[in-house]
Formats: sequence, C-alpha cells, structure tokens
Amino acid sequence: MPKTAAPEHVQREIERLREQIRHHDYRYYVLDQPEVSDAEYDQLLRRLQALEAQHPQLVTPDSPTQRVGGVPDEAFQPVRHAVAMLSLDNAFDEAEVRAWQQRAAKGLGQAGATYTVEPKVDGVGLALTYERGRLLRAATRGDGTTGEDVTANAKTIRAIPLRLQGEAPRRLEVRGEVYMTTADFEAHNARAAREGAETFANPRNASAGSLRQKNPQVTAARPLRFFVHSYGVVEGARFSTHWEFLDACRTFGLPVTEQAKRCDSFEAAWQHCRRLEEQRERLAFEVDGAVIKVNELSLQQRLGFTHKAPRWAIAYKFPAQHATTQVLGAEASVGRTGTITPVAKLKPVACAGVTISSATLHNYDEVARLGVRVGDWVVIKRAGDVIPQVVKVLESRRHGKERRIAPPSRCPACRGEVTKEKEDEVAYRCLNPSCPAQLIRTILHFGSREAMDIEGLGEAVVVQLIERRLIKDAADLYRLAAKDLRALELFAEKKAQNLVDAIAASRPRGLARLLYGLGIRHVGEKIAQLLAEHFGSMARLARAKAEELESLQEIGPVLAAAVAAYFRHPGTRKLLERLEAAGVKMTEEAARGPRPLAGQTFVFTGELLAMTRAQAEALVRRLGGKTASSVSRLTTHVVAGQAPGSKFNKAKQLGVKILDEAAFRRMMDQHVR
Ligand code: IVH
Repeated sequence: MPKTAAPEHVQREIERLREQIRHHDYRYYVLDQPEVSDAEYDQLLRRLQALEAQHPQLVTPDSPTQRVGGVPDEAFQPVRHAVAMLSLDNAFDEAEVRAWQQRAAKGLGQAGATYTVEPKVDGVGLALTYERGRLLRAATRGDGTTGEDVTANAKTIRAIPLRLQGEAPRRLEVRGEVYMTTADFEAHNARAAREGAETFANPRNASAGSLRQKNPQVTAARPLRFFVHSYGVVEGARFSTHWEFLDACRTFGLPVTEQAKRCDSFEAAWQHCRRLEEQRERLAFEVDGAVIKVNELSLQQRLGFTHKAPRWAIAYKFPAQHATTQVLGAEASVGRTGTITPVAKLKPVACAGVTISSATLHNYDEVARLGVRVGDWVVIKRAGDVIPQVVKVLESRRHGKERRIAPPSRCPACRGEVTKEKEDEVAYRCLNPSCPAQLIRTILHFGSREAMDIEGLGEAVVVQLIERRLIKDAADLYRLAAKDLRALELFAEKKAQNLVDAIAASRPRGLARLLYGLGIRHVGEKIAQLLAEHFGSMARLARAKAEELESLQEIGPVLAAAVAAYFRHPGTRKLLERLEAAGVKMTEEAARGPRPLAGQTFVFTGELLAMTRAQAEALVRRLGGKTASSVSRLTTHVVAGQAPGSKFNKAKQLGVKILDEAAFRRMMDQHVR
C-alpha cells in the first residue's frame, strides 16, 4: 500500500462518494423513497471500497464502508444508561386510556396539554449516542439500567446514520425501536427454511435475534430497520415539545415513523389511535398498539415518572390476536405465594406467530365464568408477550363427553389443604407455609445472587433441605450445621462446610438485599434499594404507613399497599424476628462519602432552568438528603423553579423553607467541589 499522502482529487472523490451513498441510504432507509436502482448504488459502494483499499489511511470510522467493520465478539460489554430506559404503562381499552388522561389532567391542573400519537412497534429498544453528530455507541435496553453494547451490529443497520445531517447537538442519545417489516421477515424466513437455517417465530424475535448476533456480518445480512421514539441525554440543544424533538430528528436524518401525529386535543389523539388500529393489518410492520404522549416537555416534567414508566405517556394496546383449539387437559400450578392457578393444556395451535400449547385460566371463578371443560373447543388470545389465555368456549362444538374442571382439594405440590383465604377472594391458595412448591422458589430467591448471594444454594440442594425438613423458612438456613448437610446426597465434608460458610457470609449483606430477598410483592431490586436508603432499618420500614411510603417519588399506591400489607402479616413479624436472632443484618449503611444533607428532605416544584428535576434530585440524594414528591411535615426544603405548582402554597402554609433555583444551586455548590 502506498504510504504517501493520497492525491487531492482522490480525497475529493472519496468524500463525494460517501456523501452520495449517505444520501441514498437516507432516501431508501429513512424516507423510503429511493432515487437510484440497487445496481447503481452497488456501483458507488464498490468504487468507494476500491479507493479506500488503495488508500487505507483515508478510511474513517463513519465511512459507509465501515458498517460491517466490527469483528465477531465473544460477549457484549455492559453499558450503564445515563438515564434509565423505562417502560410504558399499558391501557387495554378506551376506558383505561381515558382514565390515564384524567389522571394526567389532574396532575397538570389548569395547564392544557397537546399530545402526540405514534404506533407502538413490536421491536427491540435501542439507544444511540451521537457525539458531535458521530455515532458513538448503540446499546440495548437490558434491564433498563444496564444494557449491552451492540454498536458493531447497529452500525450495519442502514436506517441508522453513522453521522447526523446538519447542525448536530454536542451530545444526543436517541432511543427507538429496531424492527423488521412483515414482508422482509417472511422473505427471510422462507430463505432460512430453504437453506436449513434458523427461522424465527415472529418479526420481533427475528429483530432481537439479529441484533444480538456475535458476528456483525450476520446482522448485516438481516433486513433490520429502525425508528426514533424518544431520547435519553440531550446536550447542546433544547426542545420544548416532543413533536419538536421528532422534527429535529427528521432534520438530523434520523428515521421517525410516518404514522406519528401531533394532536391538539385528547379526543383527536384518541381518534388517531383508533385510526392506527383500523390500519393495523395494512401497515408494513407489526404494531401492538399506539403510544399517546403529552407533547409539552415542561408538562411531561411536571407529571414525572413512576419507578417503571412515565406518567406522561400511555400505550394503548390493540386487542390481541385469536386462535381456536381444543382443551386436552387441565393442571393446577402453585406460585411462590401459594396461589393456585388453573392452566389449560391445549392441542398445539399457531397464534400471532408462535405455537401455543397451554393457556392460563387465571382462577377458578374464571373457569366457572367461562364454563370451560376438558375436551372443549375454545378461543384463545395472545397479546404481546403475555401468557395466552382462554377467552371463550365454543359450546356448539360440544359432544357431551367433556369433563368439568374443579379446584383441587389438595395442593398439587404438598398435598396440603387448599382454601380460599377469604370468601370473597377469587384465588385458591395452599396455606401450608412449608409447601415445597412455594418454599423452593422462596429460598432460591432469597439466596440468589442479587439478594443474599449464597453460593452453592442451588435447586438440588434446596429441594433436599426441604424434603428432609431441615428448613421450613429462610431463617432456618442460618441454623444449619455442616453435620446436617453431610447427610444430603452428594455432600462431602468440604462441600457441606462451604455451604455453611456461604450462608454465614450472607449475614451482613444489608437491608436492601435482604428486602429484595424476602420476595415482597412488587419489590424488585431497585425499590428494595430505595426503601433501604430511605428507611435505613427494617424496624423503621416495618412501622411505616402506606402514606409515608407513597410520599417517595418512585412509589405508587399499589406498591405502597403491598409493602404495608407484607409487614402487617403476623408470619412476617415472626420470620423477621428469627432472622434478626440469627444475626442477619437489618440495617443499611449510609452511602459512602460525606452526607452534608443527611436528615433533610427536598421537594421540587416548577421547572428548573440549569438542570432537570431528576438531576437535581440525584444531587440531593448523593449528598445524603432525601427527596419526596409531595410536601409534608417531613419536608425541610421546597425548591421552587419556574411556574411552581400547588406545592409552593403548601410549603408556605406549613412554613417549610423555600429556595429558588439560584439559592438551591448555591447551597449545592457549597457541598460539591
Ligand atoms: S416511548 C419512557 N414510543 O415500547 C419510555 N416506546 O413497552 C419511552 N416502543 O421501551 C418509550 N414503540 O422500546 C415509545 N412509539 C413508541 C414506541 C415505544 C415501541 C417500545 C419501547 C419501550 C416499550 C415499552
């Protein structure tokens, strides 16, 4: 290869070719309006490849030839999202959508909102970070906090620009959906079947599978597309509405769905949802619903988020897809909380792209309501990823030999008694606290890596511990001695001692992990952490009323009620006493570093100019303070931004100290150096 500088005319030709190719990619993949034939496009690409091969020093990472540049990688690197990638709350009918709008309107008081409506494409979420207009990184959603770096694969998707058009912001993280059109998906499957390669059940699985290929060459060969629907971090640009953001994306050359619409009123937004629903079958890609968002970003900010989804958006899920099949049998399954769920075993049937062989019947009241029997022909429905369900019995197809489905009188796992806890409850439960079906799962969860992290406490071990009556709850683990374990199958001296040591080592894990490990309904890792930080000790948390729990920003009424109910239960008190007596730590250490705001609780109202509310709250928490969403006697400071809401008056009433943004910043600056 010549090492000397390339002649200027070659450099110019290379630049021109890249511009042309980018332009045609944009016409084809973003606008869906190609201007040249595939052959003409290939010619340009080949010419560029040839010139770059002759002058490798001129290759840049954002050259169109570099889309398939990455080498196969063993594992995707984890990427921590700067702003969590949340989910959306769902509404399954008009009434639920209207209920969402009413909640939002209440939260906004006098302020009138406009809306946007976009199709909810059934694809895979992807976050793209651009720095000064160059694609820096692509990450999957993962668990919402940490995703996987799939940059090499994402670069092969031609709808994703490697370089933004026009005046790009300093930093822009857009989020959107990777998907496949129905036609591309079918063509891909047909080809794969011919070649004896892997076929996919539906376009969503095909997109997910293609995006997570170890070899970018494979991804490049898959017909993936992309559109933008939201953002994470924006630096060096300001938008006042979601629509403005989408428009800006269009000017940057990022794809936005054609079906997105701005609506001046909620009624217009709802109409557009219905229109999308009607068009559903005619769209080029699979959609499972429509997303309504409050358009004004200031109003979005006012509504904020729950721990899992924004309050300013709702996904209206279109009615599910249906299929007809026969019930071959009925089983009862026991959940971690003892609930017994009837499950219909079905003659396998294809529905919405997957084969279905069982469906939930929810509970025995539902069995009675449907009148479903073994042998019946039934209509099942499947929506998105939820478990398929039986919706209707086709009575005209009965032949008289069908068998009724009755609640089991004994638990299928422990043969223990099965009851309805309260007469008006629909769920049958196995109340045996040592029922193995529940206990196995409870103990495995308690010892799992994210909870108390007890190495060696696998399923085979737990099953034996329960069968031999060595444990009947988590607290019993801490009484096990090596000699108890030696009696188990496959337990040599060393292994027994290792497990005893591992259990002992879990005692000081702290409140957050313990709370998560207890398996309280709705309490995931994040919420457990939050509760541990806020309350500091199990005793304080156990005393908290639902109202105090709800005053925490991320906690809604359902979660607050579940936590309060858990601690009210007499069984809980006993378990906690026994854990404490066993030396398990019941408190959470304060975060490391100085905590100048310890003991203070901040509430924010109105819009901040220099930072987002989430950033301000994170700052307070980092300095050891607490944040809450409503003003109470526990509040020490209210920070009032632009156009503060009713919290401002409440603060005045209660005599709580009020800071404007400048005063708040001065206060923070004292602590952050
Ligand atoms: S907005 C804070 N808009 O659906 C969440 N999401 O079920 C902002 N999705 O995680 C997301 N189409 O991956 C938004 N038009 C759309 C969407 C959409 C599909 C996905 C997205 C999200 C998931 C939630």
